Amino acid sequence: MKLLVCKHSICLPKPGYIFVFLIVFVLILIIYIMDILDFWDKLDITIIIPGAATVTQPADMYYNFCKLKPLSPEEALEENLVLESIAWPTTPPLPSPLSLNNTSDPAHSTFTILPRKRGEQWYIGDKLEVMIKMYDFQGRPKKSGGDVLLARLHNLTLGAGVAGHITDYLNGTYSAVFSLLWEGSAQVQVILVHPSEAVTELRRMNIEEPDRIFFKSQFRSSLFTRTTTCNVCLRPTEQPVCNYTDLRTGEPWFCYKPTNLSCNARISNYNGGYKKNLTTMEKLFQRGINMKVSIPASGPASVTVLPKQKGQSEVSSSSGEPEPSGYYYQGVWRALDGTTVHQFNTSSAITQCLKGKVIHMYGDSTMRQWFEYLNASLPDLKEFNLHSPKSIGPLMALDYANNIFVTHRAHGPPLRTVNVPSMELHYIANELDNVVGGSNTVVVFGIWAHFDNFPIEFYIRRLMSIRRAVVRLLSRAPGTVVVIRTGNPKSFTPSGAFVNSDWYTFQRLKVLKAVFKGLNVHLVHSWEMVLAHHLPHNMHPQPPIIKNMINVLLSYICPQKVG
Ligand SMILES: *[C@@H]1O[C@H](CO)[C@@H](O)[C@H](O)[C@H]1NC(C)=O
Ligand SMILES: *[C@@H]1O[C@H](CO)[C@@H](O)[C@H](O)[C@H]1NC(C)=O
Ligand SMILES: *[C@@H]1O[C@H](CO)[C@@H](O)[C@H](O)[C@H]1NC(C)=O
Ligand SMILES: *[C@@H]1O[C@H](CO)[C@@H](O)[C@H](O)[C@H]1NC(C)=O
Ligand SMILES: *[C@@H]1O[C@H](CO)[C@@H](O)[C@H](O)[C@H]1NC(C)=O
Ligand SMILES: *[C@@H]1O[C@H](CO)[C@@H](O)[C@H](O)[C@H]1NC(C)=O
Ligand SMILES: *[C@@H]1O[C@H](CO)[C@@H](O)[C@H](O)[C@H]1NC(C)=O
Ligand SMILES: *[C@@H]1O[C@H](CO)[C@@H](O)[C@H](O)[C@H]1NC(C)=O
Ligand SMILES: *[C@@H]1O[C@H](CO)[C@@H](O)[C@H](O)[C@H]1NC(C)=O
Repeated sequence: MKLLVCKHSICLPKPGYIFVFLIVFVLILIIYIMDILDFWDKLDITIIIPGAATVTQPADMYYNFCKLKPLSPEEALEENLVLESIAWPTTPPLPSPLSLNNTSDPAHSTFTILPRKRGEQWYIGDKLEVMIKMYDFQGRPKKSGGDVLLARLHNLTLGAGVAGHITDYLNGTYSAVFSLLWEGSAQVQVILVHPSEAVTELRRMNIEEPDRIFFKSQFRSSLFTRTTTCNVCLRPTEQPVCNYTDLRTGEPWFCYKPTNLSCNARISNYNGGYKKNLTTMEKLFQRGINMKVSIPASGPASVTVLPKQKGQSEVSSSSGEPEPSGYYYQGVWRALDGTTVHQFNTSSAITQCLKGKVIHMYGDSTMRQWFEYLNASLPDLKEFNLHSPKSIGPLMALDYANNIFVTHRAHGPPLRTVNVPSMELHYIANELDNVVGGSNTVVVFGIWAHFDNFPIEFYIRRLMSIRRAVVRLLSRAPGTVVVIRTGNPKSFTPSGAFVNSDWYTFQRLKVLKAVFKGLNVHLVHSWEMVLAHHLPHNMHPQPPIIKNMINVLLSYICPQKVG
């Protein structure tokens, strides 16, 4: 059989075989293209699985650990402004080996009530200024700032208290300024939360160990279940990663991909634990020594305040510190921001206020306390059992007769919970986009306690995405009442300081105020409400404080309500 036909010494394949050659050529081409595709597969970053998460291959190893995605120029500008507004003084480098000798020592430090500028007596309406001088463990004055201080003025008998405003002069001297708001005795308390040196370590942790709290997810197919680690940012490894970044809000979330299971097989989320032994600086976090310790007074620690005089020239502080948002008197919180806080002492008073309203709460367990408070105080408000885990919800309660509907749902990840369905992890911004709103709708949220250990930019962006949703809500339904619960000081253990420190919370409080400034939203100033109260600082404040918070909330909802 001859394959070639030759004519004048030019040989060509027989016409029939040309076809075969063509087919072989096309086949080779197809294989070649497939190879190219395969090649891209191996190099490539993302394989899109319709409908849900995407798989990220090890190429991702080259992204910076916990680098958040770039912002638009406007957002970047705002983020920078927020970051500037929370700038904390540079804190001293840590001595090596660590010795407390040169670090701030509350026992050696003192505060002094400065004399009234004119006259002898203190009157209601005056500003009381206290000078705080920090010393180290060797009794030498500190020369730099950055110590974390809290101050309050109080009188237990009168059930009175107000938070002070601290100014850091960056030379080891600080001032605390208080408004004098009640008649009688008022005692100053100054607490060192952390020496400035501890802030150095808290800062390092957030940069180097943002994943010191980690999460787990279970993945399930009909054959088997696997568990992997999840977080806001995952350290690059050889393992591919599932990218659960929310497409609507842009909120990042990742899990290591389970072997032989799809990213879509994720069923649950829970608190994976804490990385331990990340610090060798435990000495800087000692309860009773340099963490959450009162600083003694060098002289008298209290003043007697007289009733306002006619024609009194008020002594105001020189630098115009922000006014406190309110104060306690007889155990009752009185706002100073123009809100009249009414007392809703009976269930019928609360019911009258909430009649015909829908109240949607979103947030962490400190938000859930409010749901629980209403659920416990209103006999006609019945919780409907949705069989949902309490820690994430959704929770729902209904007073059918009075047409009151209250819901609560946890905020999206990161959320330290028991094992809960990942399907129930909803971002507040997305939830708000599903609320029609209106004058019978109240939206309340509190989101702070689960963000301490992550880069602050992550929290700023979370709040910015919630704000965008609030702006959309208020523009489509301007009558909607929006209330935000701020974070509060709490008690924490030396190891807990790295995930729960008041310094982290305080920085995030400032972020929250900056991001929501100028919007038609109401703040419940939990930071000051816990700080000013005589009960101990607690992540979950005790009932007398919650009652006051609820009174503020209800006063926002029912401003006309008297009694
Ligand atoms: C502590 O302070 C002393 C006196 O100012 C100084 O000589 C010493 O170098 C300091 N030590 C450390 C570890 O910073
Ligand atoms: C700390 O001060 C004590 C007492 O003055 C001294 O004996 C000790 O060497 C100092 N430690 C350091 C690390 O400087
Ligand atoms: C620190 O700075 C403040 C304000 O400038 C000043 O009043 C105070 O005297 C300074 N303290 C020391 C110890 O230098
Ligand atoms: C509170 O003030 C009253 C009236 O001035 C005073 O009698 C009482 O001792 C004060 N109580 C405390 C705990 O300071
Ligand atoms: C994760 O997915 C989001 C949204 O698709 C994308 O913008 C982001 O770049 C991805 N991140 C990584 C690390 O792959
Ligand atoms: C995954 O599947 C492959 C092939 O289906 C199998 O060879 C491998 O052992 C599986 N790996 C695991 C960890 O089950
Ligand atoms: C942390 O360190 C301490 C002692 O330095 C040790 O007793 C403890 O077992 C360590 N914990 C972990 C989880 O490694
Ligand atoms: C609501 O109240 C009911 C009845 O007292 C109680 O069983 C339920 O646990 C409460 N729910 C919450 C979330 O506290
Ligand atoms: C509500 O309770 C507070 C604190 O117990 C009390 O001071 C106030 O008088 C009460 N108000 C009403 C209207 O009952």
